[in-house]
Amino acid sequence: MKPIKAAGLIMASVLMLLSAACGSSDSKPANAGESSAAPTQAAAATKAPAAGKKITLGFSQVGAESGWRTANSKSVQDAAKDAGFDLKFSDAQQKQENQIKAIRNYIQQKVDVIAFSPVVESGWDTVLKEAKDAGIPVILTDRAVDSKDTSLYKTFIGSDFVEEGRRAGKWLVDTYKDAKEQVNIVELQGTTGSAPANDRKAGFEEIIKSNPNLKIIASQTGDFTRAKGKEVMQAFLKAQKKIDVLYAHNDDMALGAIQAIEAAGLKPGKDIIIISVDGVKDGFVAAGEGKINFIVECNPLLGPQLMQAVKDVVDGKEVTKRIVTKEGVFTSEDAKRELPNRQY
Ligand code: AHR
Repeated sequence: MKPIKAAGLIMASVLMLLSAACGSSDSKPANAGESSAAPTQAAAATKAPAAGKKITLGFSQVGAESGWRTANSKSVQDAAKDAGFDLKFSDAQQKQENQIKAIRNYIQQKVDVIAFSPVVESGWDTVLKEAKDAGIPVILTDRAVDSKDTSLYKTFIGSDFVEEGRRAGKWLVDTYKDAKEQVNIVELQGTTGSAPANDRKAGFEEIIKSNPNLKIIASQTGDFTRAKGKEVMQAFLKAQKKIDVLYAHNDDMALGAIQAIEAAGLKPGKDIIIISVDGVKDGFVAAGEGKINFIVECNPLLGPQLMQAVKDVVDGKEVTKRIVTKEGVFTSEDAKRELPNRQY
């Protein structure tokens, strides 16, 4: 089933540049959706830096796995510079143990605030408790943790990944609303156990179940990288007789998969409809060429919001427990128009 005509019509007529205000459906952490302020005092009091002293921020980044991540790191580094903070930045190479080490290191160095983007959701309670006991406030950025004790961090700044999955699902349901046969979907998941992989899958499945013709026939992790996306797509193409749709949890995996699809003599965006998440420049180029049909935006430019939250926490101000990033969605036509404005 390849409803290219229907998809084309929908794409041409429905200009879905939604400047969607996210935040309708936070799924993580346990108290997500809270818009009220959280107390800024933890068990041990947060120690403000001496007057005139620069704020020191320890930041543990997931890695450099994708174009999104590169843009996110640059945003954090630029914003810290603009804010006049002393930034200690470490790259965990997608390994939780490296992030735990980095956080412990920041605790030893007595930084003013620790921020990190947790590679996976689970397993943070011990180290977060150590930071709390040392009186060092922690801010989560981009990805959530599943800790029940939400006093272990001050705020979580980032996207609503469940909503991103839902947006991908809605476009697909709409595109295939007249489908009379089964639509075979393959899914490239992000890093196993990570919030975006869990949530984008959950949001997508929640929506597509409204149409029993939409079937995920294979789903595997591509670890958010181009190389893995290509490798797993090659395996899907070998194993599956007929693939109608690829849902990739990020642009990089979709771009790797496009290479595999082309090498198999098929046309990405036509023989296989492609949906991805992020909206980095390379993704937009592929969408503009018609190789990606629909992109759900995930905004990496979190630096300025993070620095504001750091400042507020240090100043003892109340911070909102959940800060959700504003994002949109893009068809191929939207991507063509938007490409010259894309910063990353
Ligand atoms: O956590 C955000 C996700 O991580 C982005 O979608 C992906 O590209 C990145 O690696």
